[in-house]
Amino acid sequence: MKHGKAVRYREFGDFDVVDVVPIERPTPASGQVIVKVSAAGLNHIERFVREGRLRDLVSTQLPSGQGVDFAGIIVSVGDGVRTFRKGQEVLGHLAGAGTHATWIAVAASAIIPKPPTVTPEVGGGLYLAGCTALNSIRSLKLGTDDTLVVGAAAGGVGHLQIQLAVQQGAKVLALGSTENHDFLRALRVIPVDYAEGVEGRIRDIVGDRPVTAFIDNHGGYELLASSLGVPQHRTIRSPDRRDIEIRYLTAPADDTEAMADFSSIVAMVAERRIAVVVSGFYPFDYVTQAYQDLARMHSRGKVVIGMDAVEFGPRQGWYLTEKARSRRQRAETDEPSDTTNRSLAAGTD
Ligand SMILES: NC(=O)c1ccc[n+]([C@@H]2O[C@H](COP(=O)([O-])OP(=O)(O)OC[C@H]3O[C@@H](n4cnc5c(N)ncnc54)[C@H](OP(=O)(O)O)[C@@H]3O)[C@@H](O)[C@H]2O)c1
Repeated sequence: MKHGKAVRYREFGDFDVVDVVPIERPTPASGQVIVKVSAAGLNHIERFVREGRLRDLVSTQLPSGQGVDFAGIIVSVGDGVRTFRKGQEVLGHLAGAGTHATWIAVAASAIIPKPPTVTPEVGGGLYLAGCTALNSIRSLKLGTDDTLVVGAAAGGVGHLQIQLAVQQGAKVLALGSTENHDFLRALRVIPVDYAEGVEGRIRDIVGDRPVTAFIDNHGGYELLASSLGVPQHRTIRSPDRRDIEIRYLTAPADDTEAMADFSSIVAMVAERRIAVVVSGFYPFDYVTQAYQDLARMHSRGKVVIGMDAVEFGPRQGWYLTEKARSRRQRAETDEPSDTTNRSLAAGTD
């Protein structure tokens, strides 16, 4: 029997309820495959679920795992699975959470082949943020006459939304702290500091042109949206964003629409039409630090954990040399990168 580990929490609460427990490699039921997880993303909404803040909206059976996104390699195939084979690299989602683990048993309907141009750390953090970004931008039906303001634009979901909106031809004003302005400019949007006076800064930029759409990822910007004259039906408020995310978080394995959205965003990344930034890439042993990094609220792009980091080879160096990390993250991070590198070099199995 092979042994691995998985994140578990037995009661709702803060980080202190999170344990890493030993697990045995599962066997696949009919229609399932066993995936050895190589990378898995972290998302705020999963933290909110763990804290018990979404009990009315997301049912959770305790003890529960964490993580819905993953990239990995199929190590065993159950009866009736014809479209995937052992050894194949896949991306997917796990209804009910639990991808922060060495292995997962997942329905074949909830996985897709990993395109060769999508790295595990990018593909492994893409499902929830990518589908949420795609759904929110699609719902706004943007065109070349639109001016869109996006809050938390440098974050995991925001940095995907702004790229999708630019593709639709919209002019995009991206709210972010000054540390992220060069990063945002590189994504072909206009950065705007969200500190006091933000409305004036937006008005100075747009002039006579109306702001026609608004996404408040962070929360607390509804008044700004209405003050700018954005119609309600073109404002994605923070609760709307939450509901979109819950739609994908709770999608069952046979939800073909969710998988179609996931396939679309993966294809865009594979074709390099969308860039995904992974600014925090933590070995599994540092999972608590990864959660803490996300909870600091200033991640740029995605925070991802890697289960078998040795397989990533030289690529991991790019993330951990910290070129990808914002100044604020660097200042606040308590784990020096050389420690993280050493742990990665040791690997996990
Ligand atoms: N409504 C909900 O239930 C719900 C669900 C999921 C997520 N969210 C929230 O949506 C936001 C983005 O989600 P994500 O998954 O993309 O998270 P993320 O990757 O952690 O993004 C964090 C982003 O939030 C920005 N931010 C921090 N404080 C801010 C403030 N006071 N005003 C405006 N922006 C601020 C940061 O920008 P800078 O680094 O540039 O400061 C950072 O880019 C997070 O704040 C998250 O808590 C809400």
